[in-house]
This record gives sequence, C-alpha cells and structure tokens, in this order.
Amino acid sequence: MGKVALITGASSGIGRELARLHAEKGGDVILVARRGEVLRQLKDELETAWGVQAQVIEADLVDEKAPRMIFEAVEASGWEVEYLINNAGFGGRGKFHERDWQDERDMMQVNVVSLTALTHLFLPQMVARNSGRILNVSSTASLLPGPMKAVYYASKAFVTSFSNAIAEELHDTRVTVTALLPGATDTEFAARSGMDKTRLFDNAASARSVALDGYQAMMAGKLTVISGMSFGQRLALHLVPFTPKKVLLREVRKVQGG
Ligand SMILES: NC(=O)c1ccc[n+]([C@@H]2O[C@H](COP(=O)([O-])OP(=O)(O)OC[C@H]3O[C@@H](n4cnc5c(N)ncnc54)[C@H](OP(=O)(O)O)[C@@H]3O)[C@@H](O)[C@H]2O)c1
Repeated sequence: MGKVALITGASSGIGRELARLHAEKGGDVILVARRGEVLRQLKDELETAWGVQAQVIEADLVDEKAPRMIFEAVEASGWEVEYLINNAGFGGRGKFHERDWQDERDMMQVNVVSLTALTHLFLPQMVARNSGRILNVSSTASLLPGPMKAVYYASKAFVTSFSNAIAEELHDTRVTVTALLPGATDTEFAARSGMDKTRLFDNAASARSVALDGYQAMMAGKLTVISGMSFGQRLALHLVPFTPKKVLLREVRKVQGG
C-alpha cells in the first residue's frame, strides 16, 4: 500500500490536481467532498491510471460533525493518513453588512473550523509516529485585509497564521505543516465566489501548476509557499508592508470590484 493522502475538496480545482499528483507518485488517496459521484469518477480514473487505491468519503464540511465522521471512517478502514491536505474552501463577495449571514457562517465553518478540527484529529497520530505532513490551502488573501470579501480574507489569515504557528510547535518532530498561498487560479472558485468578472482572474494560474507548487513544498516540509502570481503581483505583495493601510484597503476594494 502506498502512503495515504487525505484530500478535502478533491472534486474539483486545486484539490483534484493534488489527488492526481499524489496518485501519479504511487500514493493512495482518500477523496473528500460533497459531490460523491464526481469523487467516484476520480477514484476510478486514479485506480485505473496509476494502480493505486482510492477511498471516497462524501461529507459536507459545513456540518460540524463532519470532521469526526471523516476521522472515524478512516479509522474504520484501517488506513493511516500520512499526508493531510486541507484544501476545501470557498469565498463570497459583497459588503459584509449586505451579505447573507448563513453564507458567512458556513464559510468560516469550512475554511476555518473544519480545517482546524481535521488537523486536531489527525495530528496526534502523526506526532506519535513521528511522521506525517499537513498541507493547508490558504490564499495570498491571507496577507492583507479584503474589503468586499472581508470574511474570506480573514478566514485565510487564520489558516496561514495557524499553520505557521503549529509548524513551529512541531519543530522537534519530523511532522511538518505547510501553508499554500495561491493567487488567482483557474478553478470553479471564481464563479462560485462571484469573482469571475473581476480583473483579478484575467490571468489566472492553472490548478495543476498551483497544486504542484503546493505538493512539492509539502514534501520539502516548507513553511509557506506562494503560487500562481505574476512578477508584478509578487512585487505588489512585497510592497504591502510599506503601503499606507488606507491606500492598500482602497486598492483591494477596487480589485474586488467594490
Ligand atoms: N481559485 C483561486 O483563485 C484560489 C485562490 C486562493 C486560494 N484558493 C483556495 O483553494 C482551495 C481550493 O479551491 P479551488 O480554487 O480549487 O476551488 P473549487 O474548484 O471551487 O474547489 C473547491 C473544493 O472544495 C470543496 N468544498 C466546498 N465546500 C465544501 C463543503 N461544504 N464540504 C466539503 N467540500 C467542500 C468542493 O467540493 P464539493 O462542491 O463537491 O463539496 C471542491 O472540491 C480553497 O480553499 C480556496 O479558498 C483558491
């Protein structure tokens, strides 16, 4: 049996490419998302193409019981998770006071609470084995506040901060935690987040290239990796600490179509 990667949000975009990358290397996969039919197609694809084993767990990470249900399903199968890839997430655009509360709450549940809960469930056995890697998919949005997507940006700030902090807590083990910070990436995310008509997605990176950067960084045990950004965007990011906050906020608002 190959080393097992559990990937949330494996039914599309970056998560699906991460699953493909791991299978290509001969690793087994546990595919998690809501769309079971899509996951079963991916399971067939990976098992046929690479001779690996795949499990499907249909779960809605909005449900607070989902992380434990996933953990117990994995335990019952007897598989040992060596790589935990917390990738599932979504965004939402609009002025905070005009946005639907349920949507904001669900976003925090998926992007923050479920990611943290899954980490809390799987990390102790990695530490006990002194072996394992976690990849948390954050965003370049985590590096600054995001007017028009306030909760999304804040949720990703949590993911980067949390990932970096526990990585340091594990300094005396062989367990690593990597935060992947993609820029605009060509997946279902933009349309689902009401972002597909903003100029941010004009030159979006491919899901494959972003997944590859994340996968390689996880394997190398890196703390953080930024991916899918043009030279100009990287330069702009480096200027963030030197830009007056009000100017920064106005620019982000405009980029987000506000
Ligand atoms: N695309 C970008 O520009 C971009 C930039 C920075 C960061 N990111 C981050 O990258 C990650 C992957 O997004 P993507 O771009 O690949 O978008 P995507 O194509 O929309 O994929 C999102 C994945 O998350 C899953 N998901 C969403 N809500 C879920 C829920 N309630 N329960 C279980 N699974 C759920 C979806 O599966 P189901 O619908 O089947 O449940 C899907 O597999 C996200 O965390 C996102 O915030 C994306």
